[in-house]
Amino acid sequence: MVRVGPPIRYTRRTALEHVKVSEMVAALSYALDLTEGQPLGHSARVCMLGMRLAAEIGMPVRERAELYYALLMKDAGCSSNASRLFHIVAADEIRAKRDVKTTDWTRVGFESMEYALGHVGRSGPVLGRLAALARVAAKGKTDACELVKIRCERGANIARRMGFSERVAAGIHALDEQWNGAGYPDHLEGEAIPLYARIALLCQTLEVFWREAGEIRALEVARKRAGRWFDPALVRAAESVAVRGELWEGLDASTLLADVWALEPEETSLFLTEARVDEICGAFADVVDAKSPFTYRHSTGVAEAAVRIGETLGMTPAEVTLLRRAGLLHDIGKLHVPNTILEKPGKLDAAEWTVVKRHPYYSWQILRRIPKFQRLSEVAACHHERLDGRGYFRSYDETRLDLPSRVLAVADVYDALAAKRPYREALPLETVLGMMRKDAGQALDGECVEALASAMSTTASLGNLAMALGQSVAVECAAAMVY
Ligand SMILES: [Fe+2]
Ligand SMILES: [Fe+2]
Repeated sequence: MVRVGPPIRYTRRTALEHVKVSEMVAALSYALDLTEGQPLGHSARVCMLGMRLAAEIGMPVRERAELYYALLMKDAGCSSNASRLFHIVAADEIRAKRDVKTTDWTRVGFESMEYALGHVGRSGPVLGRLAALARVAAKGKTDACELVKIRCERGANIARRMGFSERVAAGIHALDEQWNGAGYPDHLEGEAIPLYARIALLCQTLEVFWREAGEIRALEVARKRAGRWFDPALVRAAESVAVRGELWEGLDASTLLADVWALEPEETSLFLTEARVDEICGAFADVVDAKSPFTYRHSTGVAEAAVRIGETLGMTPAEVTLLRRAGLLHDIGKLHVPNTILEKPGKLDAAEWTVVKRHPYYSWQILRRIPKFQRLSEVAACHHERLDGRGYFRSYDETRLDLPSRVLAVADVYDALAAKRPYREALPLETVLGMMRKDAGQALDGECVEALASAMSTTASLGNLAMALGQSVAVECAAAMVY
């Protein structure tokens, strides 16, 4: 049974230019929470805590505006090391990422050993698990540094791609640096660590411990790690705000997202343009596609196919824009699926399918929070629905699937079958279309499939694709990858 979230209320607006960048980015930060194994709203709460600390230390407005985005986007690189982490720990990397936030890695002892025993190779046989543990013990520091490096470089690049300043990118890049120089990836020390990163690390830890163990424990952990992990002056500032009873206020409010929107300094508010929306959609498509080599370029591939189908069907420019953005973001809920499932070499079991089938629900939950994206969220949510009602997660049938939803479903299946993957070459166009035509009229919309065939057969890229045939691949294997 899929739980439907509370209704989301927005103020009345008439045009895109009245929507702030912060409203889109704060909503999309919920997707980053999924990859980190955190409850939805983690990044938003970290932003709220960080902005309170910024006010306490008297940070100037222009810097507060930058800090705001550094806090929301702190985990932008999180998906890029998921596959690598999964191969290192040989277990659920989302769970491992969640628990690492409460583990003190700088002290080799019970806490870090308990973490390793609790996560490394959990799903494998005992010998395999011991081998995985030995690998982690031998290469622990090298691997940790590599993982953080991948993550922070990628996160900083995504921030740049979204048009944020170098200072925002630097704050994201240095998220895992620690005050005593024991952090990663550059072992920066003290005030050499960008202030935005110092605030983000402290607030991230405060948020996680506040949620799991309460206010007193959260501040206790901050005090204990002051001078090691955290800037002592920032810990004192957090305690001062807490003493006034203002630090934790409203963190669990149902209006969290709207409250966070209101925290962006008014004087420096950025407003959305059509181009900026496209940049943000493209950046988050990269976040999704970076999660696994199995899904490399899938979101952009779906967007391109959906646009071609829409144009062939004569849809309006506005509808085609909707299709492109929905294609880029349709699988954003897949950040919730661990790589143990995404990269499983064999068939998925029933429990794993249950997890997979939840991803369009999460896509909907995230995208519906963005003002002006209500329709897009519905289209994206339906990308695995089928005309015969046998899709997921809502089991809608043809009576409830509109044209954009049908186009997106066809584009999604097309890209899953046609794109090159690490384990196989691209399937021939004729094979792909043959498979899709079998489903036309029952599961997939026949008109959309024929529009795809017509569009693809006339493009150079598809000409190349059709020429790149060669390796015979079992059709069932390819079809099984249509998540
Ligand atoms: Fe999907
Ligand atoms: Fe997809």
